[in-house]
Amino acid sequence: MNKLTPRYEYSRYVIKQKVHELLGIKCPFGFCVRYAVKANPHTEIVSIMNRSGIHFDASSSYEAVYLIEQGVEAGKISLSSQQAPHNFDYLLDKGILFVATSLKQLELFLAEPSHPLRVGVRINPDFNLGGHNKRTSTGGVNASFGIWHEYIPQVLEMVSKCGVLVDRLHIHVGSGSDPDIWGQVMDVALEVVEKMPDVNILDIGGGYKVHRYGSEGETNMKQVGAVFSEKLNNFANKTGRQISLEIEPGTYLVAHAGVLVATVDDIVDTGKNGYTFLRLNTGMNDFLRSVMYGARHKIEVINDAEEKIPYVVVGHNCESGDIFTPVENDPESIDTIMLSKAGIGDEVRIYDVGAYCASMRARGYNSFPDATEVMVD
Ligand SMILES: Cc1ncc(COP(=O)(O)O)c(C=O)c1O
Repeated sequence: MNKLTPRYEYSRYVIKQKVHELLGIKCPFGFCVRYAVKANPHTEIVSIMNRSGIHFDASSSYEAVYLIEQGVEAGKISLSSQQAPHNFDYLLDKGILFVATSLKQLELFLAEPSHPLRVGVRINPDFNLGGHNKRTSTGGVNASFGIWHEYIPQVLEMVSKCGVLVDRLHIHVGSGSDPDIWGQVMDVALEVVEKMPDVNILDIGGGYKVHRYGSEGETNMKQVGAVFSEKLNNFANKTGRQISLEIEPGTYLVAHAGVLVATVDDIVDTGKNGYTFLRLNTGMNDFLRSVMYGARHKIEVINDAEEKIPYVVVGHNCESGDIFTPVENDPESIDTIMLSKAGIGDEVRIYDVGAYCASMRARGYNSFPDATEVMVD
């Protein structure tokens, strides 16, 4: 295996375990797991998901094309994108499932000569649970995602004029690990389903939190699945409508599978009243979560030192924001982490980086080459 650093290592074993766990969830009227491929589009990860029977959530038409090129059947891909597809006719001909995330996208879909007679829509129901800072709202008035719920009558009028049915509802407004939160998200989603008479598939999105650092919780998906099932059963009893459920996690399936292995390139300090900075041979060009969201990850220096020292761990980019140890959820403030006393050349491991790390980096900044990505057993 390539032992050069920086490198991302992804564990096949961990991914397969997570896949197995999610495919074991039971729902009363059908259940589908979609992998949110933006979390990590590594070819072998896509292949593991595909071979295991997982379907896919694409967040851009480019992701949808990539998945098709990777051998994924188009009918297993749901496309819900912030940008209108660059190749609508090709994707619709192939048979992807389209979710309109704005009225304009719905209009474009209906204008396509070969559009199918069923479509999905993403609705923003004026509800947001679990945004951990101001940058992670996915619902409510601060979020541009989806069609504002007050426009549902307009949506229904537009499709009915063209003989099209909205059969899939997509909602992604929650994140967290608490089953009660997921129960509330389901309640809100079902209120929207009630307003859309032809919906028989509910995609309730991703956002199932995993523990990476500090007090972050780990979602118990079996419990969440039980809450979903109970709510769907109650809904069926009340309305006679049997709704099939889809979830589209990225983080839950791959976050724990990844480790970023780096090397201490330099150690500098700012005197008695300052800090000691551990400078790595990687940074925001490979890993942006801490810079963008103030996300924290477990970090270890791999050596035999017994002494622990408080370090600010920083990246190699010429940017003061390029840090791995911000105050949690506050990317503008720096914090320290107690690590084994390090020497230049020591290996450093940053854990739980399988999701939104290699796929969401400030690629090319300072012209640094990308960290490599390897699969491990
Ligand atoms: C629409 C949608 N679906 C799924 C996901 C996947 O979320 P996560 O990786 O947190 O499970 C996201 C993440 O932002 C999303 O916006």
